[in-house]
Amino acid sequence: MKTILFNIKTLAGILDAGTMKLSGTAMAKMESIEDAWLWIEDGRIHSFGKMKELDMQIIEEFDLQMNVEGQSVIPAFNDSHTHLVYAASRESEFVDRVKGLPYEEIAKKGGGILNSAKRLQETSEEELFDLALERLRLVENLGTANIEIKSGYGLTTDAELKMLRVIRKLKESSRQTIKATFLAAHAYPMEYKQNHQAYIQLIIKDMLPKVADEGLADYIDAFCEDGFFSADETEQILDAGAKYGLKAKIHANQLHYSGGIQVGVKHNAVSVDHLECVGEEELNCLLTSNTIGTLLPSAAFFINLPYQPARKMIDAGLAIALASDYNPGTSPSGNMAFVCSLACTQLKITPEEAYNACTINGAYAMELQNETGSITVGKYADLILTKKIPSLAYIPYSFTENCIDQVFIKGM
Ligand code: NIG
Ligand code: FE
Repeated sequence: MKTILFNIKTLAGILDAGTMKLSGTAMAKMESIEDAWLWIEDGRIHSFGKMKELDMQIIEEFDLQMNVEGQSVIPAFNDSHTHLVYAASRESEFVDRVKGLPYEEIAKKGGGILNSAKRLQETSEEELFDLALERLRLVENLGTANIEIKSGYGLTTDAELKMLRVIRKLKESSRQTIKATFLAAHAYPMEYKQNHQAYIQLIIKDMLPKVADEGLADYIDAFCEDGFFSADETEQILDAGAKYGLKAKIHANQLHYSGGIQVGVKHNAVSVDHLECVGEEELNCLLTSNTIGTLLPSAAFFINLPYQPARKMIDAGLAIALASDYNPGTSPSGNMAFVCSLACTQLKITPEEAYNACTINGAYAMELQNETGSITVGKYADLILTKKIPSLAYIPYSFTENCIDQVFIKGM
């Protein structure tokens, strides 16, 4: 299948092959061509260039010819942190929080993650799959080409396996590339609140071998946070995961200076995520590593936390990724364009920095940087075709307006 898009207003996000991620000042640039064409063949970017250099006679040879005058093309979003397999929404907790009950208090009373776990344990694999597939289609239309999805609302061996099997089935049913992360260390079930080691042993001795045996996970995660998993407990989990070849992508420093960033970096984590609490020590730790910090501003927005220090991190020379954290408790939205709006207005980063964080750096946070995340010959044609908008900065500016006309995933 050969497709050509021509008369593209702006083709942006062009990168050289081999670019792993963009860091520091490089995040502010988005190389682009005005008045461009793009050739897609067998799902991948074949070539691109300026309209004035295109021989219009070759257009006849394409199966699909799209004159997209006035519309722009950017790389599609890579959402590297979500929990989109869940059984039920939690708007009653939202109302409790509106009335002043803090997130941590709700969790202590058996709400939050444990509430979602109870509902998930009672829901069949088929029903969970149908619900998740609907959410996946929704975020696809919002521009997300590739996505990471975590377990962690099971918290028993059977329910964690059920969640991961749902994710496997999503992988088989979708054009999006999906990465699965095993997050049994999301919260201590009530019966283990006083005996953390017993739950950790259940994860290590019972769940992990089964997860590995079925090849159900790409990564291992833990919610490294006061009141959840301590840095030492997180380390135990990551060590065990590593024995089965699972690299780490962890929740760190959302509510406190939990030591999560240091543990993640020590274990060569692909990413450390959330990062509301980042001081000098954490910055320096990240600077010495290949681990990327993934910021989740819509979770901070939704539960009223101070925002992540993105500006400070980029100014220090770091790369950051942005992700939605799509989940029923702290971010019931997978809208990456809105994440970009928040990144600009609250994290004080520019639209170019935000796009790079959601595209190439999001790809890096899922180890997909050689396949997607930029306009590069040979990469998958994972693209957003915008509506006729005045400029690319209009997307984060006009928050809540849908500026996307069409999403291409692997060229279709
Ligand atoms: O990433 N922080 C931990 N886990 C999820 C939220 C879990 C929930 O409240 O359901 C998060 O924000
Ligand atoms: Fe999360």
